[in-house]
Amino acid sequence: MGAHEHAEQLIRTAGEIVANDRGILAADESTGTIGKRFDSIQLESTEENRRAYRDLLFTAPGLGEFVSGVILYDETIRQSSADGTAFPKLLADNEMIPGIKVDLGAKALPFSAEEKVTEGLDGLRERLAEYVSLGARFTKWRAVITIGDGIPTGYCLHVNAHALARYAALSQEAGLVPIVEPEVLMDADNSIERCLDVTTETLHLVFDELHHQRVLLEGMLLKPNMVVSGKGAAEQADAARVAELTLRCFHETVPAAVPGIVFLSGGQSDQQASENLNAINAQGPQPWKLSYSYGRALQAPAIKAWAGDPANVELAQQLLVHRARLNSAAAGGRYAIEMEELARAT
Ligand code: 13P
Repeated sequence: MGAHEHAEQLIRTAGEIVANDRGILAADESTGTIGKRFDSIQLESTEENRRAYRDLLFTAPGLGEFVSGVILYDETIRQSSADGTAFPKLLADNEMIPGIKVDLGAKALPFSAEEKVTEGLDGLRERLAEYVSLGARFTKWRAVITIGDGIPTGYCLHVNAHALARYAALSQEAGLVPIVEPEVLMDADNSIERCLDVTTETLHLVFDELHHQRVLLEGMLLKPNMVVSGKGAAEQADAARVAELTLRCFHETVPAAVPGIVFLSGGQSDQQASENLNAINAQGPQPWKLSYSYGRALQAPAIKAWAGDPANVELAQQLLVHRARLNSAAAGGRYAIEMEELARAT
């Protein structure tokens, strides 16, 4: 196969995802992860409950004004709305591009007790072809990097970077925009400076591999963590410091050819995720668009309000669209804390 026969399509799709301050709704929780979210509202994780919840999210009136793409899970991309419309078509009809998580999860890394490597490369070319036929236009693969005593090791960073680039190249070969997600977890008690060091090293290795494996940088998006203090750290950096160090890190590691950076929320509160994204964009124009690809930070108020009761669907949808509106404002550096009001009023 020739080099980048889909270049034009990849560049167009990647640009479309980050245009007009829109961002991505990550609704690609695996069956295990959505089960944990449902536990928090005491709801059984049946296939119908998972379908009903995704239906609520995807049919939220006005969501497409702020959300350009939705990441689906393998089960979800095959499901349909209550009226029988397949989810990928429903999203496309509402100006949202359907995407698909294609990794098979982070598994124990041999000979390094606390580290993980993401699996899912075997048979990926064939799975991608099927996802194209189901309507997907972009893909996601998440690598997990843990900060701790003596970790991450170079070994862990290297194998994950290699797998991310293998995945990205296969996606582009299929005409799908890869969303390359190396997530440095924020769960430890490290300082923000340590997060800066680890994220910088991670991104250096990832872009080195992407280059070696001939990935078209103009036709991909990066989904990184922000540079933040570990959750357990006594001293918590404020939004201005997060913005400063996050941008410093990207200026050193992310080529200007990459059209967009879409952050994960990674356990930040929904308000924090909006504040930090806004502080980053308030620094003025950058070589790449900086937007969001949030899971928890977009869905948290909605799932709580829904609680599995059909009577709450409308309120839950309003809360989801409200968070999307705020994050879109933050992607344009126009977010202000007063804009949180609807959430408090309801
Ligand atoms: P969070 O925003 O909840 O971190 O989820 C984003 C995601 O897609 C993680 O892979």
